[in-house]
Amino acid sequence: MSAIGKPLSRVEGRKKVTGGAIYTADAAPEGAYHAALVNSTIANGRVKRLSTQEAARAPGVVSIFTSANMIRFKSLPTPWDHNRPHGQRYLPLQDDLIHYAGQPIALVVAETLDQAAFAGTLIEVEYETERPVVWNQRTAAQAYDPPQILWPVNSSVGKPQEGLAAGAVKVEAVYATPDRHHCQMEPHATVAAWTAPDRVTIFETTQSTYGYRDLIAVALGLPPDNIEVISKLIGGGFGGKAYVWPHTLLNAAAARALKHPIRLQVTRAQMFSMVGHQPATLQTIRLSATNEGRLVAIDHQSVSPTAMTEDYIEYAANASRFLWGASSGISTGHKIVRVNRNTPTPMRAPHEALGHVALECAMDELAYKTGVDQVELRLRNDTMTDPYTGRPFSTRAIRQCLLQGSERFGWAQRTPAPGSMRKGSSLIGQGVACAVYTHWRWPGTTRMVMRRNGVISIESSMHDIGTGTYTVMTQVAADELGLPPERFVVVLGDTRLPRSHSAIGSATMANAGASVMLAARALREKLTALAIAGHDAPFAGVRPETISFESGRMRAAGQPRTIELGELLVHNNLPELSVIGDYNPVDEGPKAIFSFSAIFAEVRVDPELGLVRLNRVVGAYDVGRVINPKTARSQAIGGIIWGTGQALLEQSEMGPTLARYANRNLSGYLVPSHADIPPLEVLFCGEPDEEASPIGVKGIGELTAVSVAPAIANAIYHATGRRVRDLPITIEKLL
Ligand code: MOS
Repeated sequence: MSAIGKPLSRVEGRKKVTGGAIYTADAAPEGAYHAALVNSTIANGRVKRLSTQEAARAPGVVSIFTSANMIRFKSLPTPWDHNRPHGQRYLPLQDDLIHYAGQPIALVVAETLDQAAFAGTLIEVEYETERPVVWNQRTAAQAYDPPQILWPVNSSVGKPQEGLAAGAVKVEAVYATPDRHHCQMEPHATVAAWTAPDRVTIFETTQSTYGYRDLIAVALGLPPDNIEVISKLIGGGFGGKAYVWPHTLLNAAAARALKHPIRLQVTRAQMFSMVGHQPATLQTIRLSATNEGRLVAIDHQSVSPTAMTEDYIEYAANASRFLWGASSGISTGHKIVRVNRNTPTPMRAPHEALGHVALECAMDELAYKTGVDQVELRLRNDTMTDPYTGRPFSTRAIRQCLLQGSERFGWAQRTPAPGSMRKGSSLIGQGVACAVYTHWRWPGTTRMVMRRNGVISIESSMHDIGTGTYTVMTQVAADELGLPPERFVVVLGDTRLPRSHSAIGSATMANAGASVMLAARALREKLTALAIAGHDAPFAGVRPETISFESGRMRAAGQPRTIELGELLVHNNLPELSVIGDYNPVDEGPKAIFSFSAIFAEVRVDPELGLVRLNRVVGAYDVGRVINPKTARSQAIGGIIWGTGQALLEQSEMGPTLARYANRNLSGYLVPSHADIPPLEVLFCGEPDEEASPIGVKGIGELTAVSVAPAIANAIYHATGRRVRDLPITIEKLL
């Protein structure tokens, strides 16, 4: 009977695939002006002269904003606590300094989008140009120890230095990952409509309605309650829509000055510099182990670039803190270097998706050095105690993931020697990699309102970033109340609704989802109280625990009578029944909570052309309870596709002289297409984890993007004997 575990399709799916779904850019009120950004073509220096005269005379132009007439924003709080508003420190159009190519230098407002964009081309700019600092081996060597923004920057547990010296077998290697961009299908957009001189409604492509509200309030110097942020559907977020980006502030300020609603859509090319990206990493990893492949020590050090105005850290070495046990100890560290570029930001499986490339490829190297099979090597280094904090893991089914995954994949048939498997003229390679992913505990609140017709609305500021939240929330509530999921409507993405954390960190269901369960429980208690002691109570005097909910009716044990839930409201002359579910977890509990996976990949490589094709992938995951196997699988195959892009295709290429992104379009920034993706198999191997969440779930979305790339890289090594240590593994690197 339970709605949990049913493979329901997404309630908004049909609208999305038929074009009926309303996204932010569609939400502009009739007659709204359009804004277009003009961006710096240099990456370092200042604007010496900027002339808007000709642009201002162009047809349809309403106004042009530059640093000369834009309001002065108030500086934003440090953005790095995931549970508080996020933003970047850099504020737009405040002075004439240029820190990165693509930085906004003017905002044109016109009656139509074409008029605004055209007028922007008429703006004349003269720069004073300095040589930009770019990310390369030389600047990486000048990296500094940053202040902590999320986790400790450096870690050392046990005696890693002694262990590194002592091991019988050693691996030391440098792995590199490139700059990447989120490339969401839906580009960022914002619509600002002021309803009073100090009150504004902002339609926004964001994963964080309240985060945006609070940060915009700071920047504009307004009380947060004067700002409403609405974000109903998001065409891909992946972390890129969590921080507040400059265009949102500019658009809101311009709309206020002009007393007219304005719509701004970031162009695909501007998506590379107006909003965040994932910074490159250069990672040095050292493993030492016994001859049997038991890890003695791990040292993992990562360097990444950041913007001139920020201390963003990509915590790539974080993965090595938790994945495998090492008898002597584990040390990790991170450095960053400021270069002329826009602000980096989390991108789907930030930190982990990068760090696992070094760690899990190095494990493959260790397997070859010791002659221990890759799966067996990992089983030998599995641990039920978190090496970093010494706490037991709440649940950790990495063993099950490895065993069930290898069984399904047919790992036993693999012959270990590189180049030993062939099919026709192709070299066949098989690789494996495991992953650990951070679990977040954040507060979430849900209001549940039941009306007389029996329809119950689930209301929260939480988002559906495309993962199925609108659907999965109904399953949690339906399970608690013994109702079919169709009896619920879910209302999300609005700061008029009760506050939940941002839709980030794969944490939506574990936290906001838990508040749905708590709200449903509160509603059940209220209905029970009415049935026992309300007006004309059908079950007067019975004990509450004897009352059950089934198919929309309540019954008391041993009584023939049942009552429809809506009838209770009528009896008691109530138009509706409203309850709040407030989930307020402690930050850290006695257990270490993580999601886990094992990924198995098979590739075929054309030895003459260096062309790599993916044959098949089996992903085995421990994500706790799976509420909806269809949407969960959908996230997993999305993650595998995402990781395939990381392995083989994706890189944002920045010119070394001008420090501009050279491939700022989807024609140059390659992501996998359907033809690149073979059948994918997804297994869920975990058990419900009550420590992780009262509904037993752990995160799915980001985990599934982790360790696909090292599994593929290891498969390529197996096929070719070539250990490519810088991603993506493009054709030329295999020739
Ligand atoms: Mo995710 S990168 O926390 O949206």
